Amino acid sequence: MDTTIFETTESQVRSYCRSWPTVFTAASGSTLTDEQGKEYIDFFSGAGALNYGHNNPELRTELLNYLSSDALVHSLDMMTPAKREFLTAFKEIILQPRELDYKVMFPGPTGTNTVETALKLARKVTGRQHILSFTNAFHGMTLGSLSVTGNSMKRQGAGMPLTNSSKIPYDNYLDGETADFLWLERVLEDSGSGVDKPAAIIVETVQGEGGLNAARAEWLRGLRELTQRHDILLIVDDVQAGCGRTGTFFSFEEAGIVPDIVCVSKSISGYGMPMALTLFTPELDVWAPGEHNGTFRGNNPAFVTATAALRRYWADDSFQNGHLAKVIDTVQDALTKIAIEVEDTSVKGRGLLTGLYFQDPQIAGKVAAAGFEKGLLMETSGPQDEVLKLMPALNIDLVVLERGLNILADCIADVTGQDITLVFEPATATA
Ligand SMILES: Cc1ncc(COP(=O)(O)O)c(C=O)c1O
Repeated sequence: MDTTIFETTESQVRSYCRSWPTVFTAASGSTLTDEQGKEYIDFFSGAGALNYGHNNPELRTELLNYLSSDALVHSLDMMTPAKREFLTAFKEIILQPRELDYKVMFPGPTGTNTVETALKLARKVTGRQHILSFTNAFHGMTLGSLSVTGNSMKRQGAGMPLTNSSKIPYDNYLDGETADFLWLERVLEDSGSGVDKPAAIIVETVQGEGGLNAARAEWLRGLRELTQRHDILLIVDDVQAGCGRTGTFFSFEEAGIVPDIVCVSKSISGYGMPMALTLFTPELDVWAPGEHNGTFRGNNPAFVTATAALRRYWADDSFQNGHLAKVIDTVQDALTKIAIEVEDTSVKGRGLLTGLYFQDPQIAGKVAAAGFEKGLLMETSGPQDEVLKLMPALNIDLVVLERGLNILADCIADVTGQDITLVFEPATATA
């Protein structure tokens, strides 16, 4: 296997290829194959960009038909049938059944693009500059997104002061006894507090990069209530937790809240193609035409696969309440069993944005490395990479899922010396 060109020519900044030092040649569903013909089960899913697996055949058929038809591929924000169909499907399948009245904006095609858009809009609407975000948040790598991100290594990369933002404690960050939002309530009410009233508070319902901390539904409801009472916009960054990853299309559905602005990207195209949305309530739509733009807002192949994914998986409740619920139960049962058997370990996250916290921060990395050797791709999360992160595809075949979970149990046994036997209900359903 020749990897010289990557080492001599590609920047030092590369990272995932260091954890998985092989050359991948093919991918289908939840299985990747490398140049040696070795197969890997994918519990990583493109960091959440491949919720419906690799090369999903139903989405691919739509994509190939589109590409061979001479229809537009690139269109900035011009009108095309592909965009019309996506907007129609998104409105009819996602927004209307959830009684969400959002305008849809296409920012640039990445997660950080939609976050930057949300921050800019919140400042424009309110005329305020300050944004509050949470300890251990991750919102992307451009300057605005970094300013609301917690991780010190990533913040340092900015090379300049990250301003106009402060961090406040996420759910369960303090001692578990301090009342939620005690400090925030106090400073917002006190004109002598010296804390500028923020334009917005940005939150992840589950902190995907920051250690899989999952906010409780009542905490999210408290945050919504507080922001409404103080006339502060609430932005939910659903870039990683959205598109079904926590068991519902939007991760905030469980809490029953309606954010003012929602950031969506990663799996919205359904096929791993760059695409992002910024959703906001109609009264926030104060943009002048072209005031925020970008060359790659009209990626028509992504509209086509996004529409196909919405129709295939979300047109009714059957996928969410059937296969997806079964996959979540299977993963959560397995993780709970492991956490009971292995000392100083606990289950983190929610739905399929989940994993295991190990008190010894070395363990998660060692288990992920053992996984690679045994043919299972997993990453780590948290400020010290102390959490092993599992993000299988939502439509993963249950037999493949069980095989992956058994490899996981073997890897943990190898690293910790604690034997674990997982027992599964018969795997009958497939997506
Ligand atoms: C919650 C959240 N927001 C924003 C981003 C940034 O997305 P991108 O890497 O596409 O810019 C990420 C990426 O992991 C994320 O998890």
